[in-house]
Amino acid sequence: MSFTIAIDGPAAAGKGTISRAVAERFGFAHLDTGLLYRAVGRRMLLGEEPVAAARTLIAADLAGDDLRGPAVAQAASKVAVIPEVRAALVDFQRAFAARAGGAVLDGRDIGTVICPDAEVKLFVTASAEVRAARRLAELLASGNDTDLATVLADVKARDARDAERATAPMKAAGDALIIDTSEMSIAQAVARAVAAVEARL
Ligand code: CDP
Repeated sequence: MSFTIAIDGPAAAGKGTISRAVAERFGFAHLDTGLLYRAVGRRMLLGEEPVAAARTLIAADLAGDDLRGPAVAQAASKVAVIPEVRAALVDFQRAFAARAGGAVLDGRDIGTVICPDAEVKLFVTASAEVRAARRLAELLASGNDTDLATVLADVKARDARDAERATAPMKAAGDALIIDTSEMSIAQAVARAVAAVEARL
């Protein structure tokens, strides 16, 4: 039987951490849908036309350390405004969501567009300042040379592009539980998400 958990929200709010923890807790598969857009963005940076890239993505496109870096993140949010890019990625995401045994998908439009019938919908958010500080720590730990002001500007630019685009903008589904992690520990945020899933199982 399928059981879909949709987790949306802006950059560095804690979606990834919560998604991985929830997937592990319930034995569900996890798809970080941001990686699909990042893979298309990276191929655009290498000179490809983004729609053609989205239509021909292969598993190898999802590998490589630079996929998580800030240059690819900005490119991802640029290709993500193109309706044909989004359309090319829909079937893969829906098939993943429908797999037997349960699935967790995190992204921007999972509860609104990709899986509007998901059993559980969460919208994980935090203030831009808190998110930038978290992303800075991640980037420094993985060897990127950057600073808080740069990361905050990057996060705000991406939030604006993601929330204001015409096709599948980032927003909470009407029936999503909002989890603001600004003043929560990871354990508290995960506990909140796990409780929401248990209430539906
Ligand atoms: O990890 P982080 O939250 O920084 O970003 P991500 O989830 O990897 O997503 C990178 C970019 O892909 C976002 O800024 C969005 O523009 C886009 N994206 C999207 O449009 N729809 C999704 N379901 C997932 C990501």
